[in-house]
Amino acid sequence: MFEQKEDYMIKANGFSYQKCEYVYIKEFKDNKWQEGYLSTEDTINISVMSTSLHYGQQAFEGLKAYKVSDGSINLFRVKENAKRFIKSCSRMMMPVISEDEFTKIIVELVKANKKYIPETNKSEALYIRPLMIGVGPKLGVGPSNDYMLIVTVTPVGAYFNNLAKTRCLTTFYDRAAPNGTGMVKVGPNYGSSLYALSSVKALGYNDAVFLDPLTHTKIEEVGAANFFGITYDNKYITPKSDSILPSITNDSLKVIARDYLNLEVIEEDVYINDLKRFKEASACGTGALITPISSITHLGEETVFLTHDKSLELKEILTNIQYSLIPDKYNWITKIIL
Ligand SMILES: Cc1ncc(COP(=O)(O)O)c(C=O)c1O
Repeated sequence: MFEQKEDYMIKANGFSYQKCEYVYIKEFKDNKWQEGYLSTEDTINISVMSTSLHYGQQAFEGLKAYKVSDGSINLFRVKENAKRFIKSCSRMMMPVISEDEFTKIIVELVKANKKYIPETNKSEALYIRPLMIGVGPKLGVGPSNDYMLIVTVTPVGAYFNNLAKTRCLTTFYDRAAPNGTGMVKVGPNYGSSLYALSSVKALGYNDAVFLDPLTHTKIEEVGAANFFGITYDNKYITPKSDSILPSITNDSLKVIARDYLNLEVIEEDVYINDLKRFKEASACGTGALITPISSITHLGEETVFLTHDKSLELKEILTNIQYSLIPDKYNWITKIIL
């Protein structure tokens, strides 16, 4: 168990976990959901033969609560996280909860942990991590009978600590397979990415660029984030593939790029040998925010991206919506009034 620090010491410390007061737990047993509850413990007691431990039967989400200067709290596109969580749980043969219930649980947990939400600061927020795991003993490969939904929060800053210089390297390893689980947010994709991430970091790079698992010629993702590039003729290009996790940040940026910056938005194959058409490249996600990529190296050849202007404009508009600094004309915000 993480030691509980004095509350005044719990501040965002990059993208690292710090125990807050409450965790939400809801169990599925005897074929039905039990009443959920807030727990002050961030440990659980489960069978050593649980399917989540042996067969990776689990799914999770990641979203943030933002403190607004009027004291209210914003959840950003929480229904989209709920939808993706339902897809991920279904793909892993786990029970689901409704979009409304997902939202209700998160609102309850954020309110209970309100003292940990960082003060309005455009790079800090309360990170929310819903997780579903198969629990209970099962030896043969197959879905469990019992499950636990656990939601944890922690204050965070940016995922990348040096936004000015994010150098990426393509990796030979894949995070997901063709027709595998790349399009859902499940632990197995992350387990298989660990080796790739450590290998590129050992070579001094900040993150790994995953290529398509079938041909290794097209960009899929940048670590735990989506990729987008801005071409010299001002098009927002982002890859489309069934093994990419559909990022809610990327989806929002596509709308903003079109509406605010008048960019043409295209989802298409992004060939790793054709990066010269981009003046900018970026990684985007709830954790990654919008992180301009300074270079991508592939098979010894480095492509450098000198400008980041459009990426930073997109970031500014998205952040302003998340912190209610400009109107939310797309109805993306769920307000929590404390
Ligand atoms: C593999 C992967 N791709 C993309 C993203 C970005 O998705 P989102 O913008 O919904 O956070 C994430 C983070 O959740 C991720 O883990």
